[in-house]
Amino acid sequence: MKRFENKVVLITGATSGIGEGTARAFAKEGACVVLVGRNADKGAQIEQEIISEGGKALFVRCDVSKAVEVQAMIDKTVETFGKIDILFNNAGVMLPSMEIERMPLEDWQKTLDINLTGAFLVSKYAKPYIVKEKGTIINNASIAGLQHYAAGRSYAYSASKAAVIQFSHQMAKNYGEEGVRVNCICPGIVDTPILGDRDRSVYAQRVPLKRLATPEDVAKVVMFLASEDANYLTGVVLPIDGGVTL
Ligand SMILES: NC(=O)c1ccc[n+]([C@@H]2O[C@H](COP(=O)([O-])OP(=O)(O)OC[C@H]3O[C@@H](n4cnc5c(N)ncnc54)[C@H](OP(=O)(O)O)[C@@H]3O)[C@@H](O)[C@H]2O)c1
Repeated sequence: MKRFENKVVLITGATSGIGEGTARAFAKEGACVVLVGRNADKGAQIEQEIISEGGKALFVRCDVSKAVEVQAMIDKTVETFGKIDILFNNAGVMLPSMEIERMPLEDWQKTLDINLTGAFLVSKYAKPYIVKEKGTIINNASIAGLQHYAAGRSYAYSASKAAVIQFSHQMAKNYGEEGVRVNCICPGIVDTPILGDRDRSVYAQRVPLKRLATPEDVAKVVMFLASEDANYLTGVVLPIDGGVTL
């Protein structure tokens, strides 16, 4: 039997990068994966690829910052697969960094709406189902949200990710007695489209392991946190950064 056979895994931001890599990895391990994102073409393509490789997948178009869409997405998930065991709150954006006096309020608001409120909304509507299965939540923050790490001028992004860490702590503390584990990952620099055209080799030189992370590196840790092997872990904030925060 595969590691996640009969488990329903809901992954936000599954149309690209870390979420896509994690969805493909869970599907290979037997899970029913629900792919969430706004890009319907990309979502449908990944869904089809997973199914054609023998996996179980469902793409649901949803903007995680919109409560009505999140509610409908959770309904569709449960209607299709009957339950939710594992939630990976991963959807996020990183808008251009700049001095605060130049930063449009819309950029600040959009960052918080997607990175923080999105995690809140999906958790809010998924929680009753996760409690029912005694399941688990993994939130994707960033090293940018860690107390000892200040990324240059990423005011909104860093603030949103620090808030995701505290949101995770609160849930871990309060939902343990309901049998739900909540953990938070803090990836370092992962080679995904969020980096835009930044020079990867310059970043790689700053990392003690001398390379950027791949989405698969992150997926392996998410799967560990979601697995029985991690059944005494909750409230953990785990950097996956090749040592770059040292
Ligand atoms: N790459 C890194 O170096 C790094 C480091 C630390 C943390 N992270 C975090 O990892 C997460 C994934 O990022 P990534 O690197 O994989 O970037 P990515 O390739 O740009 O993927 C971002 C994903 O988020 C989804 N998304 C964005 N806004 C959304 C919304 N309103 N509703 C639903 N989905 C939305 C996108 O899908 P649609 O466009 O289809 O909506 C996409 O699937 C983010 O939270 C990011 O902050 C990344």
